[in-house]
Order: sequence, then C-alpha cells, then structure tokens
Amino acid sequence: MDRVDRAAAEALDADDPVSGWRTQFGGQEGAAIYLDGNSLGRPAAFVVEALNRAVGEWAEDLVGGWSRWIDLPRTVGDRVGRLIGAGPGQVVVCDNTTVNLYKLASAALSAQPGRRLILGDAGDFPTDRYVLQGLAGATGRVLRLLHGHPTEGLSSEEVQAAIDNDTALVCLSHVSFRSGARLELASITAAAHRHGALILWDLCHSAGAVPVDLDQAGVDLAVGCTYKYLNGGPGAPAFLYVRRDLQTRLRQPIWGWFGQRHQFAMGPDYEPESGIERFLTGTAPVLGLAAVDAAASALEAVGIDALWSKSQRMTAMLAELVEERLAPLGASLASPRDPGRRGAHVSVAHPLAWPWCRALIDQDLVVGDFRPPDVIRLGPAPLYTRFVDVFDAVERMEAVLAAGVTDTGERPRVT
Ligand SMILES: Cc1ncc(COP(=O)(O)O)c(C=O)c1O
Repeated sequence: MDRVDRAAAEALDADDPVSGWRTQFGGQEGAAIYLDGNSLGRPAAFVVEALNRAVGEWAEDLVGGWSRWIDLPRTVGDRVGRLIGAGPGQVVVCDNTTVNLYKLASAALSAQPGRRLILGDAGDFPTDRYVLQGLAGATGRVLRLLHGHPTEGLSSEEVQAAIDNDTALVCLSHVSFRSGARLELASITAAAHRHGALILWDLCHSAGAVPVDLDQAGVDLAVGCTYKYLNGGPGAPAFLYVRRDLQTRLRQPIWGWFGQRHQFAMGPDYEPESGIERFLTGTAPVLGLAAVDAAASALEAVGIDALWSKSQRMTAMLAELVEERLAPLGASLASPRDPGRRGAHVSVAHPLAWPWCRALIDQDLVVGDFRPPDVIRLGPAPLYTRFVDVFDAVERMEAVLAAGVTDTGERPRVT
C-alpha cells in the first residue's frame, strides 16, 4: 500500500461498495470514532425496528405468539448458518457462547470415551479455557494448553503436531480475541480427523466478518456470539453448529424441554429431538432472536466476501498506520504482521495501553478496548466504519499519546 494520508482514505471511501450501509447505523457523526465492533456491534435502524416489531407482537399476541416464536432458534440458526458456510438444519441460536461451548464440548467428550486428551490454546479467551478446565476435571481428562507467540499466535503446524491418537477434542478460536491472529481452520480440522479427534471451533471473532466454510471444511462443532460483528445487541443469544451426521451421535448434558422430542406432550422422560434442536435447552430468547435475525439478514444481503474484502483493506491500513505513526511513540503492532494470518481486528501494544485507551474514550475521541497486560484492540467493523475513521482514529491516538498519559492504577469492573 502507498503511504497512507487522509486523501487516500477518502478515495477508498468514495470507492467503497459497502459504504451505503453506514446511514443505517446512526449516531456516528461528531461522536467518538467507534472501533470496538469486535466487542459489541452498533445498533442498526433496521434492528431497532425489528425489536419494536417483536415487542408489538408480544403486546398483540401475548402467549399466542409462541406458535411462531418456537421455531426462531432454528430459522435464525439457518440464517446465521448461511454466513458461516453451514447448510440448513445444523445451526441453532440459543443460550450464550459459554453455555454452548460447554454443551458441545461435553457432548464431544462423552462420544470419545477411550481418549484422555483435550487440546486447547493457553492464549484463548478465558471462558473457553475455564469451560475446558471444568470439563477436564469432571471427566478425568487431561487438558493440554498450547502456548503460542503473543502476537503471532499458534501456527497451524504447532497445533497439528500436538494432536495425537489419544486426543478426544481439539477446541480453538479461529481468530484470537487478543491479537486477532487467525488459524487455518480447514487444515487443523483435517489433522484432528486424521487422528480420530473431534474439533470444536469458537467463531466469536469470525462470524459476520471473516469467511468460514464449516461444511466444506468438514468441521464437527462450532460456537460463536452474535453481539460482535453480527450486531445482534448486548446479550444477544449465541449460535452453535453441529455437523448433520454427528447430531444423533451426540448428547448434550443439559436435558431441557426445548431439546425434547414432542415438547408439549410433557412426558415423563427426556428423549432428545433427532436433529439440531436437541442442542437447545430452555425457553428461546425471542427479543434477542428478532434482533439477530434482522442483523444477520443485512450481512447476508451485503455478503461476507464484500465485508471481508473491505475489512482486510481497513486492517492493512490500520497496521501500516500503527507502524508509521504510533511505533515512534513506543507502541507496537500486537497482531500478526502477515495480513494472511489476521482476522478483522488489529491490536496495539504499549506499556501505558490502559490509560491511553481510557483517555481516548474519556475525551470522546476513539472507542477501542483494553486487554491486559498492555493491548488496545481496534476493530473497524466494515459495515459501518469508513477508511477515514481508521485514519483519524490513529491521528487521535498519536496526539493523545504524544501529549502524555499516566496510569493511576485504577481499573473499573469493565475494561
Ligand atoms: C473468543 C470468545 N469466546 C467467548 C466469548 C464470550 O462468550 P459469552 O457470550 O458466553 O460471554 C468471547 C467474548 O468476547 C470471546 O471473545
């Protein structure tokens, strides 16, 4: 890329086929530049309308609404599935990522009785590691966490070399929450299968931004959230994927009535549904599902490939600006240098990352987020972020750091 200046960023915006969608995501003009789409996506007008419609249905239909709402986990699941390369009947939207990860990891371990090892990533998101720790303890398995490079992450070769014939389950994030490093989903899946292991992918930082083709790669299991690039809103329900031919083989540990065959027969014993609905637990979060449905339909209309193409150009610009403008002030790129190994966000390391991040938010300049020990994550969501936003954000970051920031040692509950 040529040296980036504001005019070059403006030219990229003028040429951006996705730019028309930004008007749906109001409240951005004159406000802080929002680069936290990797944590919580912005509300679109059409999502707010869908929520209002859902509340209207609640008011109008009351309990009668359930005759329609009951199918939402599966129909919204099919829609989310189309964004992650999953054919119909393999995805449901329900619960949160943690619960879905627990359900699927537990089901996978039960299906692999003779194997002792669970393989994960020491740098993975805490909830993933905690769920695996708990399950390893509860099922008498050994949890082996691989240690990757802090910014480059694990290499696909390292992961593949660690899988053996005693491996019951491999559980990894496709894109690292901290560095944005991206693993090779297809080759790692194939390696797991060569050794008879099952694989469970966390797609929280991929869904809605980075292309994945679960069916084509033969993935066994996947989970992910809908409040980041899918823009489903805070606390929106998560999704889970179970490959069709595995569904009857796997039994999840939470025997709830939404997973029960003939649910309203209210029979004495649990007998799970034969298809993907057996991975549901209890009452579907109808308002959240309405939001996810509307949000995902927009992403479907735009197309993941168009979003990914813009995302890659934005993160390339961001990474270049970090090196050019922020590195002289002691910051460094905390994401892989090779664009082919990155996801949709870029991280910046600095010893004063926390007060720097806080000052940017407090002064209404840039919203990113801090991850300990020393990283600011910047996630320019392609659906509503412009190239000039990326350029201006780095200029603002440079100015605040150059003016000086100090760490008071305070840490609020949420960073
Ligand atoms: C990779 C990853 N997994 C899981 C989660 C969180 O899961 P939950 O939706 O259960 O809070 C996050 C949250 O940011 C995440 O980044």
